[in-house]
Amino acid sequence: MNSGKNIRLGIISALHEEQEGLVEAMQGPATLIHGMRNYASGQVAGIDAVCVLSRIGKVAAAMTATTLVEKYGVTHILFTGVGGAGDAGVKVGDIVVAESLVQYDMDASPLFPRFEVPLTGLSHFQSDLHMSQRVASAALEFLDKDFDTVIDEAERAEFRLERPRVHRGLIASGDQFISKRAHLAQLNGSLPGLLAVEMEGAAVAQVCFELGIPFAVIRTISDNANEEAATDFMRFVKSVASRYAFHIVTRFCADLKSRPPQSSRESAAV
Ligand code: ADE
Repeated sequence: MNSGKNIRLGIISALHEEQEGLVEAMQGPATLIHGMRNYASGQVAGIDAVCVLSRIGKVAAAMTATTLVEKYGVTHILFTGVGGAGDAGVKVGDIVVAESLVQYDMDASPLFPRFEVPLTGLSHFQSDLHMSQRVASAALEFLDKDFDTVIDEAERAEFRLERPRVHRGLIASGDQFISKRAHLAQLNGSLPGLLAVEMEGAAVAQVCFELGIPFAVIRTISDNANEEAATDFMRFVKSVASRYAFHIVTRFCADLKSRPPQSSRESAAV
């Protein structure tokens, strides 16, 4: 897997605003259409990649991830988008990189324990450690080196982006936009360590687990999953979300290209 030669990276976001600019910046892009989605195949910072918008929700994300692997031959998947804060210590503008993901609306109890995906024996799906480490490093570099120039002062003031941080831990996905404090509190009660909520990541995680594909999920926090979430989400997604994604994904790909995986374990994973 040296110099990223054998890597073909699938890059998924739910919405156009979460991936804006990436396809335009691809080298040699070609658009392939399948199942009502446009798959843009080309190179991102020298890495062979396929970019696609899944649309919103777990089924849409699962369909897209499966197509990327089965039809377009991707070897790795990166999901990038926005999420709601799942913990008081996670602020708008912070970045959460998943260590594991759970489908919070999966409940086949009493047949199976709550959250467990029946017949997999799992409720929490682990992301690929090495890929996630590299994504988190790219996010840290973005915050250290690009943030001040990419996000202007007015935007920093508007969203109160003071010193955004990178967190790593649990992301929960479900087919609901969380916009009630009480709902989030309920989830916090049953999912210790929860950092972010969104609507696709854990579905991609299950598909990747079942197909043996290393994956990572990165979410920029757009809202606090409370009564103001819908307004905050729209404003954040319209104005700053795509710039976070563009710079982090580009840094991640450039790093993969220039710093080939060293150890055999890492080679297997990235
Ligand atoms: N994505 C961004 N914010 C979200 C929220 N509050 N609930 C679900 N998905 C989200």
